[in-house]
Amino acid sequence: MGRWGSERLPVRLASRQLFLLIMLSTRCYGAPDIDGKFRHRRYASKYFSSPRRPELNHPLARRSSEQLCVRFLRDVEFETKNAQRKTQHWGSELSTNIPSFQFENVLLNDWELLRCLETLRDVGLMLIKKVPEKTGQVRKLAERIARLRYTSYGEEFTVKSKFEPSNLAYTGHKLGLHTDLPHYHYTPSIQFLHCIKQCIGDGGDSNFSDGFNAALQLKEQDPEFFEILSTTYIEYVDVGHDQFEYYTRHPQTVFTFDQFGDLFMVLYNNSVRTITMPMPKDKVYGYYRAMKAYDNILNSPANIVRHKMQPGDLVVFNNVRVLHGREAFNVHGSGERHLEGGYIDWDDVHSRIRVLRTKFDLPVNG
Ligand SMILES: [Fe+2]
Repeated sequence: MGRWGSERLPVRLASRQLFLLIMLSTRCYGAPDIDGKFRHRRYASKYFSSPRRPELNHPLARRSSEQLCVRFLRDVEFETKNAQRKTQHWGSELSTNIPSFQFENVLLNDWELLRCLETLRDVGLMLIKKVPEKTGQVRKLAERIARLRYTSYGEEFTVKSKFEPSNLAYTGHKLGLHTDLPHYHYTPSIQFLHCIKQCIGDGGDSNFSDGFNAALQLKEQDPEFFEILSTTYIEYVDVGHDQFEYYTRHPQTVFTFDQFGDLFMVLYNNSVRTITMPMPKDKVYGYYRAMKAYDNILNSPANIVRHKMQPGDLVVFNNVRVLHGREAFNVHGSGERHLEGGYIDWDDVHSRIRVLRTKFDLPVNG
């Protein structure tokens, strides 16, 4: 963008065009108010002297109205929200149709990585196939995207039956549908599980359910229960010793919404819910009924995707949308059923998607 300003324009501008110039001058790379190297807006508090009239003090704005400003902000900024995101709800029909990618292609091909990450964003569940049957592959995939998230269980964690387990996952018991680590203020948002060895015989199948889809079904069937789970805080807690001694605890609502009112997170884990209910006594019974109604929908056969992972499969899912669980299996010895897991965060995945879309000259406004 060359040099420009209101005094240099050869035509008289309408108010709307003036505002476009103001927004460009404070938002576009190469514009006078944007640092060319760091692409950050330079400090310019003089434009914000009145919180109810943002940017109206800019020299170009003298002839403009607050009403126009608000309309402009709405039209330009918010109607482009999540333009690339197309959330796809699913149920049991996905069992035979889980989106799949080849490990080597995802590692070596940027276009394949972009397709894979956009699928994860929209569907929330995918399989990476033909992963070498040895440890270290979760880290390899995570570092292709960003980095592993460190938690109480380390960076990578191993799901094997242990003599002295620190978590129910390290036994052969059935695991009900849940999201991991809701007791963190900032819950890890994407989970990897790589199957290195599967158990012999029956059991050990993984179960998945789309928490967003189930939430919408609950809203349809019983809006009051949906409201309860959207507004009532319960607490989750995890105490123990793994990589170090830990005691994480945090209040959460089951459903969380973004600024547009769309479901943004589902956090639900009955195993680590505190035994106390942080709400007035007369609300407790209604809360249990709401939780049971949601749990029934999550577990209904029409909503469950069951998949027994084979050695070399690596499942990736949105841990703040897709609930996961496992069928029980028999533990015969220490060498059976070995999974390796890890977490990454949506901030890093969205960042990688934007970098790749920029590389391929695709629009980036989501
Ligand atoms: Fe889990």
